[in-house]
Amino acid sequence: MGELLKTHQLEAFYGDFQALFGVDFTISQGETVAIIGANGAGKSTFLKCLTGLLHSPAPAITWEGRPIGGTPAYELVAQGIAMVPEGRRLFPSLSVEENLAMGAYTRRRGPWGLESVYQLFPVLRERRRAAATALSGGQQQMVAIGRALMANPRLLICDELSLGLAPLVIRELYRALEQITAAGMTVILVEQDVAEARAHSERLYCFQEGRVSLTGVSRATSIEDISLAYFGV
Ligand SMILES: Nc1ncnc2c1ncn2[C@@H]1O[C@H](COP(=O)(O)OP(=O)(O)OP(=O)(O)O)[C@@H](O)[C@H]1O
Ligand SMILES: [Mg+2]
Repeated sequence: MGELLKTHQLEAFYGDFQALFGVDFTISQGETVAIIGANGAGKSTFLKCLTGLLHSPAPAITWEGRPIGGTPAYELVAQGIAMVPEGRRLFPSLSVEENLAMGAYTRRRGPWGLESVYQLFPVLRERRRAAATALSGGQQQMVAIGRALMANPRLLICDELSLGLAPLVIRELYRALEQITAAGMTVILVEQDVAEARAHSERLYCFQEGRVSLTGVSRATSIEDISLAYFGV
């Protein structure tokens, strides 16, 4: 399995404020990698760099060895990078099915489409004509995942899937994610819940104040090491 995406000493800025410092990250095809870290550690900023929402120097991010830093977001979607954003960001006035269709705008060829998304989340088929805002939080998250899948990405990036949702719903979402990865998807998972992150990833990176404070095989990483890397000393 080849390396799909890599960052090389990646930095990020909001004006004068530096949010990321020298982040080296790598993910191979078919892997699920978790990113954990406290509030403000830089997780979402990192994802914004990967998806082109924040500008990066070209060589700082490579996709199958080719520099892609600074590539506009829509072009990255066309190349196979799709994100489930923090807070879902659905189109409130559109129906479930219309929201899903928005994800197919820069669709690549592949297995994902309306039918396979409805097979993954049968409740969305039942509610396909409902306004996105009429759904429960968990169902809205399903729409956000489905919309990202509609583009047939090679890399699916999820920011805080479980935030604010009930345990039963979280379990359902992670079960769906397992089906998605079983079908061959490469996944980057940002997760505040360390136990979930560890259980659902092969490797993890912990961010602390814009730096990678720990990386390793998820199941081989102890809770003690994680809490040290999470909060610092
Ligand atoms: N648009 C912005 N303008 C200025 N500073 C920002 C902006 N977005 C984030 N920051 C700052 O960058 C740092 C990293 O924020 P980021 O959102 O990446 O953290 P995070 O790890 O995703 O946190 P959370 O768990 O709260 O989502 C924080 O200090 C934050 O205040
Ligand atoms: Mg965040």
